[in-house]
Amino acid sequence: MIEAFTAWCKDTLYTPEIVRATAILERSCDLQLLLLFHRLGLTEVLGKPLDGAEIAKSLGFVDSASVTLDQMLQRLAVRTPVVRVDNGTPRKFVASGAKIDPVATQAELDTLAQGMAALGERYLASLEFLQFGAEKFVHALKDDPELMDRMLSGREKGLEELWDRATNFDPLQDLHGAMGAEAITSFFQGGTILEIGGGTGNGVRHLFPALEKAGKLSQLTKYLFSDISFLFVLGTKKIIRASWPNLACDYLYLDLNKPFVDQKVPLESVDLVYAVNAAHVAKDLLWSLEQCRASLKPGGKVVFAERVRTSQAEMAPRELVLNLSIYHRSASERSSYRPFHCYLRPENWREALEKAGFSKVEIWPDMAAIGERFPGQYAAVVVATK
Ligand SMILES: C[S@@+](CC[C@H](N)C(=O)[O-])C[C@H]1O[C@@H](n2cnc3c(N)ncnc32)[C@H](O)[C@@H]1O
Repeated sequence: MIEAFTAWCKDTLYTPEIVRATAILERSCDLQLLLLFHRLGLTEVLGKPLDGAEIAKSLGFVDSASVTLDQMLQRLAVRTPVVRVDNGTPRKFVASGAKIDPVATQAELDTLAQGMAALGERYLASLEFLQFGAEKFVHALKDDPELMDRMLSGREKGLEELWDRATNFDPLQDLHGAMGAEAITSFFQGGTILEIGGGTGNGVRHLFPALEKAGKLSQLTKYLFSDISFLFVLGTKKIIRASWPNLACDYLYLDLNKPFVDQKVPLESVDLVYAVNAAHVAKDLLWSLEQCRASLKPGGKVVFAERVRTSQAEMAPRELVLNLSIYHRSASERSSYRPFHCYLRPENWREALEKAGFSKVEIWPDMAAIGERFPGQYAAVVVATK
């Protein structure tokens, strides 16, 4: 199955536009971070080696901004000449003295935006999201530390559309839902699916049509759509009811950091636990994976469509915004399977799922086989069996 999935990614999903847009987005992220480096006066601040916590303090940011700064500077250290990193404990950064020309940097950003626009209007959503993160960087780490958490749970008036565009409209983000749907459809033989962190519906928008096309939607006994945000659950409920009125669907407020049995999910009651870019938010990942396992019938599967880190120093472009939220920063552990906060590497998922008692842990697609065609690939589906 993994071979067929890999071929589908290579031949169908990863279009030349996706490959090109990913490269533009990565470079745009570097440039936005360089402009921030300049604006924050980090050349002066990092005249001597400092760690993330020390930099956060000197900039007057909240303590946990150390994670945001640490990731930003690691990315810059790997990908640009402005800063050097000493990977001791704690990790420290020192400015190299290389100059940043803000005018030339902005001009390059503008040219990249034109290139992105040429790929299609939808691709611009990822650049808008970056721009938003850069503009709110100081405000969110200093004056209003809960701003991004409110936005990410649909509670910030006026920012709902930005988040919706960034999760459902942007083709680079949308492909996570497409990958999850393709994976599930390939082996689904009926039963109940519990979706965790379903948010604004990226998962269902792809999954239901894919199951329908494969003639498998009628085998879906029940869909349990859940999220921690009431607003998201209600919004997605409207969409599901309008488009699939006959589908048996229940709507739950489910926190993956709390026992599932206390949240209307009995032990061994579901056939598949599904999440699109949500499983990684677990505060104690192993514990939450054990909760998923306990809710599954024997032989049941978890399917997590995830952004994955392909290098430990790799802050993802959208983390320019996500790292401004408290919940994204706090999903951090110093365990072997989660050396970094939030997103994991493919091998981290394998280790965590095996530790949680799952078998047949697989990472789809075969990322090594796709490397040459799409060096910037960043998505995978993690599949494991109880
Ligand atoms: C990055 S979004 C992904 C949303 C959606 N699946 C998608 O792909 O567009 C993460 C989702 O996890 C939800 N979430 C955050 N903390 C959670 C928790 N403790 N338990 C369950 N869901 C949570 C958020 O409300 C949000 O909808």
